[in-house]
Amino acid sequence: CSFLQEKDRKTICEILCNGLARQEYRGYDSAGIGIDGDKPGEMMFFKEVGKVAGLRKKIAEADVDTTKTFLSQVSIAHTRWATHGPPSIVNCHPLKSDPKADFTVVHNGIVTNASALRLVLQKRGYKFESETDTEAVAILTKYIYDSQPDKRMNFPELVKTVLKELEGSFAFVFKSAHYPNEVVTARRGSPLLIGVKTEKKLKVDFVDVEFASEGENKSIDALAPTSPGSLLVPPSHNNLLRTQSRAFMSEDGMPQPIEFFVASDAAAIIEHTKRVLYLEDDDIAHIAEGELHIHRLRRSDGSQQSSQRTIETLEIELAEIMKGKFDHFMQKEIYEQPESVVNTMRGRVNFDANVITLGGLRAYLPIIRRGRRIVFCACGTSYHSAIATRAIFEELTEIPVGVELASDFLDRRTPIFRDDVCVFVSQSGETADTILAMRYCLERGALCVGVVNTVGSTISRETHCGVHINAGPEIGVASTKAYTSQYIALLMIALQLSEDRISLTQRRNQIIQGLHALPGQIRKVLEGDKGLQELATGVLANQRSLLLMGRGYQYATCLEGALKIKEISYMHSEGILAGELKHGPLALIDENMPVIIIMTRDSFYPKVQSAFAQITARKAQPIVVCNEDDDSIPAGCKTIRVPKTVDCLQGLLNIVPMQLLSYHLAVRNGFDVDFPRNLAKSVTTE
Ligand code: G6P
Repeated sequence: CSFLQEKDRKTICEILCNGLARQEYRGYDSAGIGIDGDKPGEMMFFKEVGKVAGLRKKIAEADVDTTKTFLSQVSIAHTRWATHGPPSIVNCHPLKSDPKADFTVVHNGIVTNASALRLVLQKRGYKFESETDTEAVAILTKYIYDSQPDKRMNFPELVKTVLKELEGSFAFVFKSAHYPNEVVTARRGSPLLIGVKTEKKLKVDFVDVEFASEGENKSIDALAPTSPGSLLVPPSHNNLLRTQSRAFMSEDGMPQPIEFFVASDAAAIIEHTKRVLYLEDDDIAHIAEGELHIHRLRRSDGSQQSSQRTIETLEIELAEIMKGKFDHFMQKEIYEQPESVVNTMRGRVNFDANVITLGGLRAYLPIIRRGRRIVFCACGTSYHSAIATRAIFEELTEIPVGVELASDFLDRRTPIFRDDVCVFVSQSGETADTILAMRYCLERGALCVGVVNTVGSTISRETHCGVHINAGPEIGVASTKAYTSQYIALLMIALQLSEDRISLTQRRNQIIQGLHALPGQIRKVLEGDKGLQELATGVLANQRSLLLMGRGYQYATCLEGALKIKEISYMHSEGILAGELKHGPLALIDENMPVIIIMTRDSFYPKVQSAFAQITARKAQPIVVCNEDDDSIPAGCKTIRVPKTVDCLQGLLNIVPMQLLSYHLAVRNGFDVDFPRNLAKSVTTE
């Protein structure tokens, strides 16, 4: 936060801790803040491993003057998810360049050449306290600053020089004792936004400033990892590249009370302001004297990104991010599905005319129809939504569909061509592997389509076109409502692509009417919550393993159900394609192995019945997911009853009891449902 308004230290700490707490859902292992100390240029740090609540306690117990007021101040805070070095106080951010904290840095992402930089800097006598890549950046900043005693760069220029030496992905915030009350923030590959809070109208200065820049693009070669030990004094700032700069300041140009909030996620700042500016890769933002200037770092390949930046007004409400009457965010999100699926379809499905209109795709439909294949690419739950809709996509479009896990897709360096259509499915729009896969496909000239929940996210911005699933913020690490909305969004794409196929009219109409009935049917499934809680606290309590079986449209339900169970209840669980039973899984079956078998009625029902016979012959006592009125299930079988819908939509109903079951298993075991161990909501590193 950067304030040009009087605040006391207690308030500042509260603002920082609240901001961190709002981002807890992303997953983290330690938290820290850095604020101004008692004397000018001095800083104070508070850090704690574990939850933000622990950090708050530490601050409350510290012997500091909380009433001290500041007319202006810059303070920084961070929650860390370990990449370099284990979770510990020393590795916790903010990280400083030296004991006096000449430069202080917080960082998301990974600097991949950090160890080479560390070696070079250690040779120059700099001491490291932590094992982090971030500390190398703080120390590098100090090194460059110290190397120029006569010709000081301004703060953004200094940061630009630093960034040119870095490889990897990052979002940084820099603070410095040498540049009091200034903050510089920059991104490459990790999300970053700036919230602006002011009473007055902001003036947006659209003057492009292009500085004469002799020796453009010249990097500090001596700092390159290949030449450790030959560190030279960096070139003067005259040689640095500077491109456009825009200023956001009060219309009358007079200083005014103004607050800037830099964050990786809008949830952190929404209680202060809804006016935000999303930074793009290679943007460097400088906040000083109540003004915001954006500088661009020119890309090494010479390509330009848009130089337009606008302040947007967020539509999200803080209440939407909070838990409401529920015990956990995950529970709230499961229960939101009757509304969230409506939000996904809102304004896009005309149930009277059986017409689908996806505005974000309209112009690209002919290209997609001409594509030689469609490749879905995603991770985790998003990947399962692609599996769930693949069959109906192929049936309606008659275009072959491949489904790829983003990490494997990249490992294989899959051949991609200009006439491929690549669809990237991601709740956050920030999953590193999915972003890298998207950029890989963009480079190869494929049409890239995003199916994303988070507006303004990297995937949402960088794809050619797409569909926002509009499920609202999802906070529980285990994805639930995003899955059902992704499923519907993908289905709507298939329906729209096939709108001109007369032979499919009846099938399409049947699906669209099925979508119409869906919210009420999800409500019906939710009414069965008590029964699921009983299963979780009864037959399934204390089990070590659980197999989920099904085939056809329900294979994805099995995979996603098993993922939910392992993610939050830490119970081993596997989704098994019933057709594969004889090729291995059958060996696991005996009277002690818990099994859920999905036997809702569709054309695969006879085949699933045969799988049922095979496992019960081996004394399994499966719990059967079946339709409400199905009386063919043998008496004595425990059942989970769900309403019947169109075959390709049935997975949208069947997944809900699996979500609830996993939830109750986790609650029963006393686990942290919303923040399961070792997992993060948004995996922004490879
Ligand atoms: C993490 C989350 C999952 C999510 C996956 C993909 O593993 O814990 O819930 O499905 O990332 O995330 P995305 O934001 O790309 O959908």
